[in-house]
Amino acid sequence: MAKDVIIALDFPFAEETLAFLDRFGGEERKPFVKVGMELFYSAGADIVREIKRRGHKIFLDLKLHDIPNTVKRSMAVLSSLDVDMCNLHAGGGKAMMSAALEGLTRADGSRPLLIAVTQLTSTSEEVMREELWIDHPMDETVMHYAQNAASSGLDGVVCSPLEAGRVHGVCGEGFLTVTPGIRFDDASKGDQVRVTTPAKARELGSDYIVVGRPVTAADDPVAAYRRCVADFCAQ
Ligand code: C5P
Repeated sequence: MAKDVIIALDFPFAEETLAFLDRFGGEERKPFVKVGMELFYSAGADIVREIKRRGHKIFLDLKLHDIPNTVKRSMAVLSSLDVDMCNLHAGGGKAMMSAALEGLTRADGSRPLLIAVTQLTSTSEEVMREELWIDHPMDETVMHYAQNAASSGLDGVVCSPLEAGRVHGVCGEGFLTVTPGIRFDDASKGDQVRVTTPAKARELGSDYIVVGRPVTAADDPVAAYRRCVADFCAQ
């Protein structure tokens, strides 16, 4: 399985997003990028089409969670934008995940990769127990949701690089781990708590790293991106 670096385009507007991507105009292979809710809600399908036209692969990070029929029909719309990866909340259940896969599958049988969010990293075990009434420990819950995603036919989960080995152990080596929380050794952590370098994420078995501020806020984003690729994708 080829490893890749995904740049999180956490910008609020199309203009600054495209100005940022202009800096990668000279790159032989355009970076894989993540478009999240902030940019999608502000700039819509047009920004997705424009980024695609420029030759980037896109992870559309909209984390769907609704009744199966609504998710199926919404995924069909996202799939028609020719994105490469989509996601949803595993908490929506297996019927919703299966419906999502059906919706994503195009007439020619191709489809974007479909990745599940298990528990958000902002959710603590205490919140799970007191508010959500989930009595199992966090790590067991995360692995159970990952297994639900795998048995529904999904391609992988978003998780910490520190969980990648266990996810692969439980769901199989081919089940993808898409891992944020990446920092260079010499950088500030920002609001991330448990962070991992690109090289360490590779060692731990991550399949894709999602990198935001270490690239988007760097003095030289292209150099920072190249450094991620060299450290994470190197053979
Ligand atoms: O700037 P930074 O590298 O922290 O950005 C990480 C990206 O990954 C952001 O888009 C963030 O929303 C996303 N993410 C995360 N932790 C998760 C899931 C997604 O940091 N558990």
